Amino acid sequence: MPKPNKHVFVCTQSRPPGHPRGSCGQLGCTAVFQAFMQQFEQGRMYGEFALTAAGCLGACDSGPTVLVYPDGVMYAAVKPEDVGTIVEQHLKGGEPVESLLAPAAVWG
Ligand code: FES
Repeated sequence: MPKPNKHVFVCTQSRPPGHPRGSCGQLGCTAVFQAFMQQFEQGRMYGEFALTAAGCLGACDSGPTVLVYPDGVMYAAVKPEDVGTIVEQHLKGGEPVESLLAPAAVWG
């Protein structure tokens, strides 16, 4: 298995309705993960990049969340239409997408 340049983790956690933490599942994360899968498959990105459906990434009220390593960059409130920008600008171009960054407080 080749070591990927970047590894994308998409939170796909769901919780029952009414759960106090909410979840990315309630905020549309499935469509975000599917958009990443489509980009990876169409662009033949597997190998150079890795994609993983993850459990809770810890910032549930900022979902859907996406975390990119080794950069340690978390994106918040990601929509399917944002995925192409993250792929082109960050994964391929090396520049995180400032407008989608999670608030610094998520790491506090
Ligand atoms: S449920 Fe997605 S970050 Fe917690």
